[in-house]
Amino acid sequence: MDTHSWPGENLNSTFPADFAWGVATSAHQVEGENFNNQWHAWERNGRIKSRDSVGLACDWWKNAEQDFDLAKSLGINALRLSVEWSRIEPSPGQWDHAALARYRDILKALRDRGIRPFVTLHHFTNPLWFESKGGFAAAESVAVFQRFTRRVLAALGDLCSDWTTFNEPNVYSALGYFLGEFPPGERGSFLKAARVTENLCRAHAAAYRTIHALQANANVGWAQHFVVFKPTRPESAIDRWISAFIDRRFNNNFAETIETGRSPFPLNHFRRHLDEVKDTCDYIGINYYSRLRAGFAPRSPKTLFFQLTVPSHKPQGDHGVEIPYGEAYPDGLRRAVERFKSFKKPIYILENGVPDRNDRIRPWLLESTVEQLRGLLAEGTDLRGYFHWTLTDNFEWNEGWHLRFGLIELDTKTQERKMRPSAQLYSQLIHRFSRNRTH
Ligand code: FCB
Repeated sequence: MDTHSWPGENLNSTFPADFAWGVATSAHQVEGENFNNQWHAWERNGRIKSRDSVGLACDWWKNAEQDFDLAKSLGINALRLSVEWSRIEPSPGQWDHAALARYRDILKALRDRGIRPFVTLHHFTNPLWFESKGGFAAAESVAVFQRFTRRVLAALGDLCSDWTTFNEPNVYSALGYFLGEFPPGERGSFLKAARVTENLCRAHAAAYRTIHALQANANVGWAQHFVVFKPTRPESAIDRWISAFIDRRFNNNFAETIETGRSPFPLNHFRRHLDEVKDTCDYIGINYYSRLRAGFAPRSPKTLFFQLTVPSHKPQGDHGVEIPYGEAYPDGLRRAVERFKSFKKPIYILENGVPDRNDRIRPWLLESTVEQLRGLLAEGTDLRGYFHWTLTDNFEWNEGWHLRFGLIELDTKTQERKMRPSAQLYSQLIHRFSRNRTH
């Protein structure tokens, strides 16, 4: 597949020479056999909608290196992964040195291949012992997470300087405490979701300071999930109000607290300021996938009477077991970037992709997204990297294996890999826009 050309233009001048052309992953989704976290318990309790089990996943705990070879062959120069807390600290204060040694090998394997590692400290999973004490709803969670951060930095700090504290704190609290889709599966616990968000902000800030105290050149942020919301019926005042309300609460709550030092809504009406969380990021990390319609739903009291939908004629990836995944809407990336401009920090797109087993729309999505990046860079936006979700098909949380996000197709029975056409396309885009064409 050929990519667009822009006649008379020096393509190489748009993307900075050190732009991170990456892919993103997370421990539970790729490593396999993580039996000591709350997501495994969720799976055992029959809560994965497809009834699939993670099993060996992409077998990264034993052999991540084969995928790193494939990433290198595509010209990818950065890879985002997470460390699994339940492996590193299987019981409170007990450290598994073999697990830390394996993570050292993984990071070295990336660096040996010229791939810059970006490490996420928390990507949705909690050790069972932590979850049983209330997870991030408990006040002690902040200090416990800080202790974990310190340990990870001591073990891996010489191999990585790009850190993401939390992946999508807004998804973690909304799906776990409000929509009941993620563990612990609570529905409508509005105040608890806000408390969890507040503790995540405090844990993020503590981790930020801990990392900087231990590493002079650290680059630290969090990954903010952003959804473009639109009223289901634009002519309806209530739909417009609902859409604006969800947009503000879901997309802004965490970021606003970090920016202003005020507790997340509705706790901001009761609490003192959280000054310690202010100015605790070196970059803005954005995970952007889709657009959703939000409207009034009189029969959904548990979700505060709103419903999220996607019009069937809009481009979208494969359908989830119960709910649509979202409209694939590459133009919305600009909205996400603009929303967080006020931080005046460099921006990384830390995730972007589509579930698309047959590569129907992924090539279009990739090309359109890179075009968006190009436009934003040309206007002077300080964009430092793009990470496609994901390299090899992996286990999609409560949906299981049927949603396939990989540039590379995985046969979970044989562990065989097959490049999708979009893997070659991503490779071509990287080579076309990289100033450093040594790959
Ligand atoms: C994001 C998650 C990531 C992956 C993608 C498809 O919300 O951070 O782990 O599941 O969605």
